[in-house]
Amino acid sequence: MKIAIASDHGGVNIRKEILRLLDEMNIEYEDLGCEGGCSVDYPDYALPVAEKVASGECDRGILICGTGIGMSIAANKVNGIRCALVHDVFSAKATRLHNDSNILAMGERVIGPGLAREIAKTWLETEYEGGRHENRLRKITEYEGNTQQ
Ligand code: RB5
Repeated sequence: MKIAIASDHGGVNIRKEILRLLDEMNIEYEDLGCEGGCSVDYPDYALPVAEKVASGECDRGILICGTGIGMSIAANKVNGIRCALVHDVFSAKATRLHNDSNILAMGERVIGPGLAREIAKTWLETEYEGGRHENRLRKITEYEGNTQQ
């Protein structure tokens, strides 16, 4: 599994925590910034991560900003992206099982690094369960005008 990861200036600390987690889990990643220290615009980071996941260059993505909201809104504009904004472990598991979410968004001004790490670990380790959820995802894909998921 290869992860594309990015944050804006509001999410640098949690991004660094998640990079440490990815190293510990031996998961390959592409870190798309930002460097921090100055104010940046979250779409400039969300869209490249979403494009890498949608194109198949990366399997899944992780995005962090102040709230996670801007990142999730931007990422979900890209066809094929199912970005879940998550701030609890239950939802991290549920969105993989039910939604096959391919990007995780979190907000550094909402949760601390310890919870963010647990959320990311759960999200990375949980597989999509398919079954009854297939039809629901197909309806989203069809709405996007895609023929493949
Ligand atoms: C940046 O100030 C902030 O707006 C951004 O990190 C994010 O919370 C947007 O949704």
